Amino acid sequence: MSQPTLVVLYGSQTGTAQDTAQRIARQAKRKCIQVQVLPLDNYNVANLIFESLVVFVCATTGQGDPPDNMKNFWMFLFKKSLPVGSLSRLDYAVLGLGDSSYPKFNFVAKKLHKRLLQLGANVLLPVGLADDQHDLGSDAVIDPWLTSFWEKVFTLYPCLADVTPLREDELLPPTYNFHFLDDLKEEPDDRLMVSKEQTIASQSHPFPARLVSNRRATERSHFQDVRHIEFDISGSGIKFGAGDVVMIRPCNAPEDIQELCQLLRLDPEVRFTLRVCTYPSPCTVQHLIESYLDIAAVPRRSFFELLSTFATNELEREKLLEFSSAAGQNELHSYCNRPRRTALEVLADFPNTTAQIKVDYLLDLFPEIQPRSFSIASSLQTHPHKLQILVAVVQYKTKMYKIRRGLCSTWLASLDPTQGEVHVPLWVKKGSLKFPKERDTPVIMVGPGTGVAPFRAALQERISEGKTANVLFFGCRLESKDFYFRSEWEELTKAGHLILFTAFSRDQEEKVYVQHRVRENARLLWDLIANKNACFYIAGNAKQMPANVSDALKQAFQQEGGLSAEEAERMFEAMDRTGRLQSETWS
Ligand code: 2AM
Repeated sequence: MSQPTLVVLYGSQTGTAQDTAQRIARQAKRKCIQVQVLPLDNYNVANLIFESLVVFVCATTGQGDPPDNMKNFWMFLFKKSLPVGSLSRLDYAVLGLGDSSYPKFNFVAKKLHKRLLQLGANVLLPVGLADDQHDLGSDAVIDPWLTSFWEKVFTLYPCLADVTPLREDELLPPTYNFHFLDDLKEEPDDRLMVSKEQTIASQSHPFPARLVSNRRATERSHFQDVRHIEFDISGSGIKFGAGDVVMIRPCNAPEDIQELCQLLRLDPEVRFTLRVCTYPSPCTVQHLIESYLDIAAVPRRSFFELLSTFATNELEREKLLEFSSAAGQNELHSYCNRPRRTALEVLADFPNTTAQIKVDYLLDLFPEIQPRSFSIASSLQTHPHKLQILVAVVQYKTKMYKIRRGLCSTWLASLDPTQGEVHVPLWVKKGSLKFPKERDTPVIMVGPGTGVAPFRAALQERISEGKTANVLFFGCRLESKDFYFRSEWEELTKAGHLILFTAFSRDQEEKVYVQHRVRENARLLWDLIANKNACFYIAGNAKQMPANVSDALKQAFQQEGGLSAEEAERMFEAMDRTGRLQSETWS
């Protein structure tokens, strides 16, 4: 039997599935197996009928949907016209990455496996169901699953087992080769990938939207900095509706870029070319680090694996090997994940090894900066050619001396359009919230804190369409400090377009939350839901709030509708199933 090429295809939302796919590819290379690794949507799915050995590594998103970079593949695979038996040549394995705290745990991996079986492909081993909730992280499932996978491969292709594998600590060739340019006259490519005409802004072609304003939405003295930010999207062709989200790719902080350059002894001005279509070419080291390399994230195990292959200092090498090993995962968790130590800080902790890193490995070492999603807070009807968001600037303390800061929110907050033109790379995605088309269907929206953002968009859109049956429950800490969009709500209320209920949790001794207001207004809510077919929405920070609000609603059903607890539960579930109850929550 001839040597197969192993194809590793992944669907990844936050980068974990991508990291795992790349890890499988590295293992294959060490075993001298030819390998190709790609996101599912970059793979020509029609070729699947010719493949002999494929591993699918797929994450499942919170709502049970496939990640963005496998959406097209997903649509194609479930076409009814695909002939049963068409994949009979294919041996495959599916590794799912999920979180068992969500109801649709590893839904994508399980469904993919069923469909591949249906199309006649041969499964090598049971679907791997990695779980983020596991104490040791998903590796507790992935490591043994991979061991079984390689055993199966070697049984199927005994010729592969005859080859002497590379040593674990042997440095593999870099994925990309940097070609440095001596000719400094050559101008670097556009700093941002300008969306070409007729190209819809997307992850590979973000639109460089001009920042119009960046205002603090909370009172100066309030502990939390929240920004109301407006972008100009004229000329982008971007369209969106209420409930949609904007994806923003942040940049690294200048001091972090400088520090990395110092640690790796890189000249930020040096230009290079690279044969990867998603990066500008030629590009400067500065631009590559600033816009693409995720140096401020907590590094994954693979970072330590690669770092250990550069180590010459015995002490550092030992520690790095421990962090790369299955046995060292608890230790790695305490060192990195718990204090949220960044990749850059890790490099500073291993100075001898860091000095050995070769520039060609930059893209192997650091994952790409992931875009962040924000609920859009404005509508095109009210603000034509504009897109607004409401962003809480993330900051917290761990045992690390330096305060931890969210990369995207901190970067956005730092941008000042009054100091010159600033552009932010973005694109828009359909969100999970859908609002009723019928003019008379009332909506009840519960959005404490920044959870109010999608409801501001919905209110603007609905009111411009003459839909005036709107109820909003808003909660914040103090009426005088973080009551976002207060004057707008007051105007809409005065005009009769909105019924507003507020819960200021810290304006009095006892806490008052949105769910208290929901309970107090049980009669109105029951009337709107039971008699006027209203839809109910919850958005905001996913801790206790969504569950608390849901309980308050079920209580309202019992109190005003005379339902038993079970009947209230059933009514709630029916609303959920039929889309009359929707939520969008984030952490
Ligand atoms: P707190 O911070 O005073 O506890 C927006 O963040 C608002 O949501 C704040 O007033 C916050 O109150 C409140 N909040 C916190 N936990 C909540 C919960 N479980 N349910 C509803 N609101 C909550």
